[in-house]
Amino acid sequence: MTDTIEMGRRSFLKTVAAMTAIAMLPPAAKKAHAATTAKRGVDYPILTEKRTLGTGSSAMEVSALGFGCMGLNYHRSRHPDKKQAVYLLHQAVDHGITLFDTAETYGPFINEELVGDALKGYGDKIKVTTKFGFNYNGNKVTGLNSSPRRIREMVGQSLKRLRRDYIDLLYQHRFDPDTPIEEVAETVKDLIKEGKVKHWGMCEVSAATIRKAHKALPLTALQSEYHLMWREPEEDILPTLQELGIGFVPYSPLNRGFLTGMLNEYTKFDAPNDNRAGYPRFTPEAMRHNLMIIEVLNQFGRTRGITPAQIALAWLMNKAGWIVPIPGTTKLSHLEENIRAADIKISEKDWKELENELSKIKIMGDRYPADQQAQVGK
Ligand SMILES: NC(=O)c1ccc[n+]([C@@H]2O[C@H](COP(=O)([O-])OP(=O)(O)OC[C@H]3O[C@@H](n4cnc5c(N)ncnc54)[C@H](OP(=O)(O)O)[C@@H]3O)[C@@H](O)[C@H]2O)c1
Repeated sequence: MTDTIEMGRRSFLKTVAAMTAIAMLPPAAKKAHAATTAKRGVDYPILTEKRTLGTGSSAMEVSALGFGCMGLNYHRSRHPDKKQAVYLLHQAVDHGITLFDTAETYGPFINEELVGDALKGYGDKIKVTTKFGFNYNGNKVTGLNSSPRRIREMVGQSLKRLRRDYIDLLYQHRFDPDTPIEEVAETVKDLIKEGKVKHWGMCEVSAATIRKAHKALPLTALQSEYHLMWREPEEDILPTLQELGIGFVPYSPLNRGFLTGMLNEYTKFDAPNDNRAGYPRFTPEAMRHNLMIIEVLNQFGRTRGITPAQIALAWLMNKAGWIVPIPGTTKLSHLEENIRAADIKISEKDWKELENELSKIKIMGDRYPADQQAQVGK
């Protein structure tokens, strides 16, 4: 009886939160929500939970899950045409997502253009994050470059592509051994003073670099790989972020789709537009072996009515309130499935049991090929 009252109370509170979230949507998203609800004849999940990345002057509030935009036209094999991708991004806003992640190097350039075209007009109702750090010859990446001149050039061009007045969070994509991190921070600090950037972050750097960078200019977030098949950040990155009050944005939270259970040894990647084709964990042999992980996730989810993708995302969100995963998808059904992960409640004891089962499996294949591994952890 008490449980029934409690469930009723919870569902009432959720409905109120969802209605408030709809009321607060920008007009375009509110219209899209009404149109989609009318078309589908049902209401649909809205992500109402917010999380804060960073603290003090570097704090930035976002939805508990973000949207990784890369795969909408880059590196994830088949992708939707532009019209469908724009529609999906509108749907993401409509479903309560307020954090959208892209980078200059996705494409390069075309992913920022898509995000800019799709999300222009949403203004400060959403946050758009992008990244600098490379040199190009035309469309070909020729090396790392975080020199002040290159950062400024990139920000000018990205703002045009993104069709925004400022970048909400600007990340250094990869550490540049030729530019001291203090110099990078100084450049970003000037861009913040000029109003072109609001916050800054880094990707895939060591705890020592995080400390140096944070001292020069408080970081809002670190964006690095972290998921059930890559837990190295737990060693010294997460404790450092917690100590310094820096948020964490795990990228590839579904291990590039593998943790959803939809990939196997027969999956064919479109090599020119899918970096997984060259990744050691995505060879047919490694995928065949690593499917043992999916079996454990299926067993865990079967009695709870949740999917492997939802388990992977809920596990990350449960680790800390300052963690905001950014799964990518090209499908509305997957977006909704992923959003529902925010509602999953699992006891610490059950999470520990899952971790324990997974720890018995030796994962086959490195996460990165040697050349890309050489760029991380600096
Ligand atoms: N900072 C960095 O160095 C860095 C590196 C890589 C990525 N990133 C960022 O992280 C974002 C996400 O990373 P990611 O795309 O590599 O990996 P991911 O989010 O782990 O996985 C994306 C893949 O999972 C599939 N998927 C998503 N939800 C699903 C569901 N519910 N069921 C079945 N399949 C599902 C998607 O396919 P469908 O389209 O079929 O759903 C897609 O192929 C990127 O967009 C990018 O913004 C950053």
